[in-house]
Amino acid sequence: MTRHFLRDDSITPAEQNEILSLAAQMKRDRFSHKPLDGPQTVAVIFDKSSTRTRVSFAVGIADLGGSPLIIATASSQLGGKETPADTARVLERQVAAIVWRTYAQAGLEQIADGTTVPVVNALSDDFHPCQLLADLLTIREHKGGTEGRTLTFFGDGQSNMAHSYVLAGAMAGMHVRIASPASYFPRADIVADAVSLARETGGSVTLLSDAREAAAGSDVVITDTWVSMGKEEEKQRRIDDLGGYKITEELMALANDDAIFMHCLPADRGYEVDSAVIDGPQSVIWDEAENRLHAQKALLTWLLEQPPQPMA
Ligand code: CP
Ligand code: NVA
Repeated sequence: MTRHFLRDDSITPAEQNEILSLAAQMKRDRFSHKPLDGPQTVAVIFDKSSTRTRVSFAVGIADLGGSPLIIATASSQLGGKETPADTARVLERQVAAIVWRTYAQAGLEQIADGTTVPVVNALSDDFHPCQLLADLLTIREHKGGTEGRTLTFFGDGQSNMAHSYVLAGAMAGMHVRIASPASYFPRADIVADAVSLARETGGSVTLLSDAREAAAGSDVVITDTWVSMGKEEEKQRRIDDLGGYKITEELMALANDDAIFMHCLPADRGYEVDSAVIDGPQSVIWDEAENRLHAQKALLTWLLEQPPQPMA
């Protein structure tokens, strides 16, 4: 069975550590690994908009000696005339891996089930695991490691980013806090999976509604848009519900003195974060955006090196 990366816990904590260490090594020596030499092609498919994911996969695949094939779903047969599973059957005979940004997680699971090449989730409604590899790499660089550090996410606790922080943060041994109204707390099954991982790694997961209490003692302060792609019709309700979770200089001052601020971008400045914070001295957002490149190159290299697994 081929290994895929559909959610943060598609890999074990030890494998996450291995990929992050490889990413750090590949960042130091950018053109050292050529697993796509040929050049072999990787299909990168977008059902939703993207800047960072598109650029970092295109540049990264080229760095690895390969050729990126960027497909906008609207200009393909996918989603209209053809099922994702049929599209995957066509692609797998010609490409080394399939990277897909889509809506439903179920679509990713369908194409991965039975596809002979690795499938990578480049963001779904439920998870953004590639972003988390970049974020954990950034936290390692700025905080000297992840174990025992407190990471607090403010805003939409049911978003793809919040779910990925809960899972991947717990896997990295972090104390993950989600600060949101109770009606925006992360999905219970994802929290349960993360709590079980945290037992293994020494991390923890805490859900809070008091933003000030959540900020106190944080090493990493994080937010994301209140209006994820696909939620545009709920914009005003979300602004009303999540206004109390905006990252201001005052909230940032409650975190540890050496806390860093992170945001996967794109940011709605003035909504989930004030410009004074995102442009301020504690912000590491540009390192975070650059690390998408290094983390995804390591992920692809690692996936392509995995021996086939026996069927369960
Ligand atoms: N952070 C992120 O995934 O950005 P894009 O939507 O621009 O790819
Ligand atoms: N939560 C955001 C992340 C964008 C990279 C969204 O899904 O739109």
